Amino acid sequence: MATDETTSKEQTGSISSVLSEKRKFPPSAEFSKNAHITSMEEYEKLYAAAAADPDKYWGDLAEKFHWFKKWDSVLDWAPPYAKWFSGGKTNICYNAVDVHAKSWRKNKAAIIWEGEEGPQRVLTYGELHRQVSKFANVLKIAGIRPGDRVAIYMGMVPELIIAVLACARVGAVHNVIFAGFSAHAISERVNDSRAKMVICADGTRRRGGSINLKNIVDEAIVNTPSVRSVIVLKVTGEKVHMHDGMDHWWHDLMGLAMDECEPAEVDAEHPLFVLYTSGSTGKPKGILHTTAGYMVHAANSFKYVFDIKDEDIYFCTADVGWITGHSYMAYGPLLNGATILMYEGAPNYPQWDRFWDIINRHKVTILYTAPTAIRAFIRAGNEWVTKHNLDSLRLLGTVGEPINPEAWMWYHRIVGQERCPIVDTWWQTETGGIMVSPLPGATPTKPGTATRPLPGIMVDVVRKNGDPCEANEGGYLVIKKPWPSMLRTIYGDNARYEKTYWSEFKDMYFTGDGARKDEDGYIWIMGRVDDVVNVSGHRLGTSEVESALVSYEAVAEAAVVSRPDDIKGNALVAFVTLKDEYVGDMNLREALRNHVAKEIGPIAKPDEIRWAKGLPKTRSGKIMRRLLRELATSNEVKGDVTTLEDFGVLENLRDQEDD
Ligand code: PRX
Repeated sequence: MATDETTSKEQTGSISSVLSEKRKFPPSAEFSKNAHITSMEEYEKLYAAAAADPDKYWGDLAEKFHWFKKWDSVLDWAPPYAKWFSGGKTNICYNAVDVHAKSWRKNKAAIIWEGEEGPQRVLTYGELHRQVSKFANVLKIAGIRPGDRVAIYMGMVPELIIAVLACARVGAVHNVIFAGFSAHAISERVNDSRAKMVICADGTRRRGGSINLKNIVDEAIVNTPSVRSVIVLKVTGEKVHMHDGMDHWWHDLMGLAMDECEPAEVDAEHPLFVLYTSGSTGKPKGILHTTAGYMVHAANSFKYVFDIKDEDIYFCTADVGWITGHSYMAYGPLLNGATILMYEGAPNYPQWDRFWDIINRHKVTILYTAPTAIRAFIRAGNEWVTKHNLDSLRLLGTVGEPINPEAWMWYHRIVGQERCPIVDTWWQTETGGIMVSPLPGATPTKPGTATRPLPGIMVDVVRKNGDPCEANEGGYLVIKKPWPSMLRTIYGDNARYEKTYWSEFKDMYFTGDGARKDEDGYIWIMGRVDDVVNVSGHRLGTSEVESALVSYEAVAEAAVVSRPDDIKGNALVAFVTLKDEYVGDMNLREALRNHVAKEIGPIAKPDEIRWAKGLPKTRSGKIMRRLLRELATSNEVKGDVTTLEDFGVLENLRDQEDD
């Protein structure tokens, strides 16, 4: 029976949050001294000023960019539709490339690229400017006009960034499709955005082999009537079929193009890109971002969160096919004139030390990666990391999902050698840029929390009725004021935009995440609310149970989902991957259940623990909990599996009987 406390929680619609983490890590005096933001006092002052006068805060930041014409107003807000810097004219490519190519940075490395088999290339800002201008001319000659959509489907080569920037230069709207997606997924995205052109590579390298991307595009564009031409970059030299009149080689077109191209002077609200992301229904959502507001926040957040300096070499392991790649592999760093390390290949090729080897050889100073990668490294063993000299590193970042405190500690100790601050950055495809994150020279970090919102960003944790939660009371993460890099709509579907993000709470953007704010105002993400489970009247964040499981010595990775239960409403089912040297048996199962009870409380004990050799993940590394929920409920999977990385994983899980 529910206690009084649970009943009242049920009524207010809050979420039980039970994981408590007390460790706190302030930045070193040395780091703070040299940082852009040096103390919490400075952060608080900035935050308060931005909250008091957001127009001034964002307007001052926008002044730092090149405008062909200055804006008339900072924000026009007709909820839920925002216009930022209305009346202004600018070009994000000009700000990311030309500004630096015209400065002393002309000969500074913009992109240091390394391929899986070891080849290396360096593009200076001057050379990037030349290549982007040439390719912008290629687009123009091919009939691409401002506002036209261009789909891009390539591996992690510099030309992917060149193509993106060239689109922005001519005012075309890029639609990057992650190179792991299937032909069906490409058609769906190309058709939804009615793209006029596809830019692809012949292939991409992965784990010593190669994937023929052009064949996949050929299959996709049979069903895409809007596509008039395909430009193909030669990367792997695969055998491809070039269709007369439709397909053109990148190098042929570049050979003919001039290397001067005036950037289009576009409106501040000119659409910049569409990026598809999954929603709760089957149809992917085309998240639309526009030019100036995105530029201002991507650049500014990058500068302060990564404390970027001209001397840094910044390594982001995300693919440009995802929002992290857009904002913090391409635009954010380039707008700051930074040097990016770009790697095309698998993290474990030829061995599990590839990232650490890259860091050592290139003297990388900042690493930005995902918790799922960190957990894979933990599983592979510390020796892969410790055999390399990582002294060049000064700052670490994570993104994409909650990082379990144990994984955070490992990142801190083994990779950061207890020297590097960790910025756990919370944001979404929809937010365009980082919203909640430590500022590394100022914010004392705690393992597992993205800490405080950036200046100008008004987030809160609220109950179902929209009232703010109390400290440590779990609730729903919302954003209370518009911000410049917010999505403007779902491409071609305003109704879905309004319903998905603006109907749940009055006048607030709903993130879809559960969270709690602790007594220091730090935000702890508890996972998507669809991953929040109600067990015996208690709502639990499944990621909290996962954190508890992963903190047990034997566990490498865990995913917790729910299945309906007659008595409790829902029961928790944990899929657990053990470290190599452990074997799953009844004793370990009981020990794990007790461990969770100890870490969180008996209510969070998984009802069932299944041993999993691997967990089903998307190609970007997110655990597909939806599939696990289906397995836990019916032992079969009927839903969409197109984004699944390894189908074998599912087979293994399906065959397994819970002993
Ligand atoms: O649930 C949150 C989780 O990832 C979601 C956004 O996913 P996506 O649009 O694919 O963007 C990922 C890269 C920005 C969020 O709603 N998420 C993202 N970052 C974090 C996170 N959860 C916890 N901590 C984070 N740092």
